[in-house]
Amino acid sequence: PYPLYGRIRREAPVFFDEALHLWIVSRYQDVRAVLMAPETFSSLNIFQSPVPPPPEVLEVLMQGPQGLPSLIDDDPPNHTRVRTLVGKAFAPQRFAALEPRIRALARSLLDAFAHEGQGDLVSRFTYPLPALVIGEIMGVPRSDMDQLKRWAEDLTLFTAGTASPQKQVECARSFVAFQRYLGELVQERRRKPKDDLVSAILQARHGEHAPMSDAELVNLLKNLHFAGHETTTNLLGNMLVLLLQEPERWRELQADRSLLPKAIEEALRMDSPVQGIMRTTTREVELGGERIPAGARLVILFASANRDENVFAEPERYNPHRADISKHLGFGLGIHYCIGAPLARIEARVALEMLGEQLRNLRLLPGEGFDYLPNFSHRGPRRLMVAWDPA
Ligand code: HEM
Repeated sequence: PYPLYGRIRREAPVFFDEALHLWIVSRYQDVRAVLMAPETFSSLNIFQSPVPPPPEVLEVLMQGPQGLPSLIDDDPPNHTRVRTLVGKAFAPQRFAALEPRIRALARSLLDAFAHEGQGDLVSRFTYPLPALVIGEIMGVPRSDMDQLKRWAEDLTLFTAGTASPQKQVECARSFVAFQRYLGELVQERRRKPKDDLVSAILQARHGEHAPMSDAELVNLLKNLHFAGHETTTNLLGNMLVLLLQEPERWRELQADRSLLPKAIEEALRMDSPVQGIMRTTTREVELGGERIPAGARLVILFASANRDENVFAEPERYNPHRADISKHLGFGLGIHYCIGAPLARIEARVALEMLGEQLRNLRLLPGEGFDYLPNFSHRGPRRLMVAWDPA
């Protein structure tokens, strides 16, 4: 998509796409302006599909609890309330304390195939790792993890919108089962709190803010699962493509681990897992010289903003030593700035460290391409065929 983004930044930085019925915002300064004005650019209903699901799918969905806005698709004042309550439970120290556990999960995945010498890193490693980590954070018992993973696969298929009608119905059933499962988990923690994220959120109190209800928490957990799963898989995949394409880069990083955090930030800039996200205007507004009416839907392209030549020197070059590295919008900005960013950063670092340790001389398999799901907002390889020297 990058040559196309470059062209629209130059020729039509803010434009209305008739076919998609969406405004497309591609320059850094305009994307930033949208992120910093949530009262004008609302996040309500950002996940609502323009095409309603078929009646048989809707019928299944109606059997589950009713969806509520939840942080990423909410506006102030409720967003402020929930973010304040949840923010405490999401303290970076909680994630830092999880690092040994993330390392152990990564090791157990790698141990299962390190002797094989070649394989697909997405199915064996970059996909299951974030799923296991988010399951652990949500307090899902180990014995339920496989079930959760199957639901997650169905949910990913469901949101991609590429499934057959029959499969869509099955996915909707998974979705309802997943919501019920989360409901029981929340009730269990309400009865018997543990030292985990769900209990911490349930107990969170702050000034005049009403505490989270069970229904709100189920919605939040559902969103955390989506937000924290696919995105992290894609960051790991994109990072590995960037690093392994230049074997020297991979060797340099493994020789000097202090370079890892910057290598991760640069991957978030160069190949953003979340390419863009929606907003809706609450009033008529001028943006990038265009007048946008009230009630218009916009896509703000993080991935394009991150390659804006007016902000980043030599934006097309992967350079973890760049001075402007912290300016990227890969995790957004402003009130919706990714609450899981500290966790994603730890997972990415641990994954790169463990791959370097456990899979010696890791390299891309020549002749094997990597295919990307044709998805407007999420980008990452579906398959990543690599080889290594078996232990
Ligand atoms: C918000 C990206 C990982 C939970 C966001 C936003 C972006 C983003 C761009 C802003 C959305 C907007 O402005 O509308 C990413 C990327 C990730 C990642 C690239 C991985 C590399 C995670 C993880 C979690 C998470 C691991 C949970 C554990 C959330 C939540 C929000 C959010 C709850 C909404 C925050 C709010 O609205 O206040 N993320 N994310 N994300 N992310 Fe992430």
